[in-house]
This record gives sequence, structure tokens and C-alpha cells, in this order.
Amino acid sequence: MNSLLPSKDFERVLVTGAAGFIGSSLVDRLLAAGKQVVGLDNFDSYYSPVIKQRNLISAKAHAGFGFLEGDILNRDLLARLFEDHNFDVVVHLAALAGVRPSIQDPAAYFHNNVNGTMNLLECVRHHPGQRFVMASSSSVYGNLLESPFGEDCETAKPVSPYAASKKSGEVLAHCYHHLYGVPITLLRFFTVYGPRQRPEMAIAKFIHRIRNGEAITMFGDGNSARDYTYIADITAGIYSAMLRCSNYSIYNLGNSSPVSLKEMIAAVGRACASVPSVQIQDDQPGDVQLTCADITRAALELGYAPETSLDDGLRSYLRWLDAHNGSGAKEQERQQ
Ligand SMILES: NC(=O)c1ccc[n+]([C@@H]2O[C@H](COP(=O)([O-])OP(=O)(O)OC[C@H]3O[C@@H](n4cnc5c(N)ncnc54)[C@H](O)[C@@H]3O)[C@@H](O)[C@H]2O)c1
Repeated sequence: MNSLLPSKDFERVLVTGAAGFIGSSLVDRLLAAGKQVVGLDNFDSYYSPVIKQRNLISAKAHAGFGFLEGDILNRDLLARLFEDHNFDVVVHLAALAGVRPSIQDPAAYFHNNVNGTMNLLECVRHHPGQRFVMASSSSVYGNLLESPFGEDCETAKPVSPYAASKKSGEVLAHCYHHLYGVPITLLRFFTVYGPRQRPEMAIAKFIHRIRNGEAITMFGDGNSARDYTYIADITAGIYSAMLRCSNYSIYNLGNSSPVSLKEMIAAVGRACASVPSVQIQDDQPGDVQLTCADITRAALELGYAPETSLDDGLRSYLRWLDAHNGSGAKEQERQQ
């Protein structure tokens, strides 16, 4: 039986977090498909804004792109933005990401990720018909014992403030669908990597260190595992979700093939043609032991079909880094 949801095309899109890793990659994909895109980002200093500015260079050369530097916590700015543009789809990616810093400053994470999401939902509900596609995270599954993680598994036991803020955003979104009929699709991304990856994420950091002849730090015994998912597979999934967002749905966008930390380090070493020097430290609080996406629903309803193995994805990422002069790792070091 074909369960692929009916597709409805769109023209005008708002992408929040447009200067970030996933946001800027999605913007480029939308522009290549001929869409009109407005990007919103406040160049938050979680990592170097220089890197974020650079992420937008290709989009800014495109006639279909408009950019607004601004904050999703600014309700007046959002109200004006939604009055000025008649968006067909809002893709909400802006957030403070990262598990470990959320333990240091949970209030900032809740303020940004939950109140910011509510501000956008308020705008969308006053503009009926707009579709709302939003980034959630595999972290909402916490330390779930059953694997792979299906969308209907337990998500009420997150283990970091970041994860709790993403779960709170999901809950809030449901409320807006229930009360106002806003069409909403929530996408739980599983450890995304590839060109423009955030510099503090493990793969980006490991590549940078290995190429500089520095040791890398492995937290725990190396047996924790992540379902690493290549950025082009993620943007393909988001695009398909934008076409099919009609009711209220949740999808895992992962690779469904978890790789242990030890194996990931070995794969990064192979891709860099180097044997990494590894320092071992204790597990970090807030980190989960395993993520593994069940992507059956996304495959059936969205036609989602990730096709990039970790080895292939790492090779593409390294080619991109070579063509882009190390991609901002130096700016990140200067900032720290
Ligand atoms: N990268 C991953 O592996 C991953 C995994 C699961 C979920 N996610 C989610 O995907 C989304 C994008 O993640 P990313 O990896 O691209 O992160 P990112 O940090 O590169 O991008 C987020 C962008 O949002 C912007 N932003 C933050 N707060 C804002 C605010 N108040 N107003 C306007 N802009 C703001 C930041 O400046 C940044 O450019 C996030 O919602 C994140 O929680 C990412």
C-alpha cells in the first residue's frame, strides 16, 4: 500500500536559524528549487558569528533570498515580518543547540527555545493556512532502553535541559495544532554532520584536531553510539516534510544505523588518513548512551530515504573543508 502523503507545493518560506548549520544548508536547497526564502537569524554567539555570516554567502548572491538579522524573542519584529510576507511554510530551526552548555545555563535554553517557539506559533496562528515545520531532536528519547526509537516511544524522560526544551517545544506545538488547527510537522533530527557542521560538534572538532596533529578527547569507554546523519539527507527530509505538512505529525530523520564513538573516531581517522591520538575522559552528564532512529514512518509517509554512509559522508565533508579553507575552525578557536 502506498502511504506517501499527498504533496502540496509552496513558494514563500521563512527559515528561522537560517545562518546556522542546518538552516543555511536548507536555504541553499530551497533557492536551488526556485523558492522565495526569507532567512531570520540573530547570529547568536554560541559559536562564531563569522562562521554564520560565511554560511550565508551563497544565499545572499541569490535574487530569491532576503535576510533579516533579528531575534525570535522579539515579538514586534516577528509581527511585522509576518505582516510583510505571506509565507506558505515556516521552517523553525532557530535554537540554542548543544547538550552540555544547557546544563550550565538551563534558563537561557528554555527562554530561547520555548518562548521563541511560542512567539512563532503565535504568528502562524494569526495567519491561517501557513504550515509550520519545526526542528526537534533525538535527544527527546533520553536514555531509552528499546531501540530503534519509534516516534511513539517514551519521550517524557529527557536527560538534559536542552532535550527538555526541545520536548517542551513539541508539546507547545501540539497545543497550537489542537486549538487553532495549525498544520504542524515536528522533525526529530539525529546527530547531523557534513559541510557547515557546528564547530563544537564531535566530528567537526575531531577532524580539526586530527588535521592539526592534536589529540582528541573520547568521553567514556567509546561504546556509546550515535545515528550520524548526513546533512543532504536531512535537508531532503525537511523538504519533503514541507511539501506534506498538513495535520500534526512527528518524524524521525536519522540514518537508522548507529555507529559507536570508537568506530566514529576510527572512521574520521581513515578519512583523514591518520591514526588519531585519543585521550579518555569520564562520560559527560546529559549525554545519552545510544541514539537509533526508526525511520519507517518517515520512509512511508515522506519518502525519506537517507543514502549516505558515514564513510561517504566524511569524505564529502573533507572535500568541502578543503575547498573552503578549513571552514571557520580557526575563527572558532580565536573566539574561545
Ligand atoms: N545539528 C544537529 O545534529 C541537530 C540534532 C538535533 C536537532 N537539531 C536542531 O536543529 C536546529 C538547527 O541546529 P543546527 O545544528 O543548525 O544549529 P546552529 O546553532 O548551527 O543553528 C541555529 C541557528 O539559530 C540561530 N538562533 C539561535 N537563537 C536565535 C534567536 N533567538 N533568534 C534568531 N536566531 C537564533 C543561531 O544564531 C544559529 O545560527 C536546532 O533547532 C537544533 O536544536 C540539530
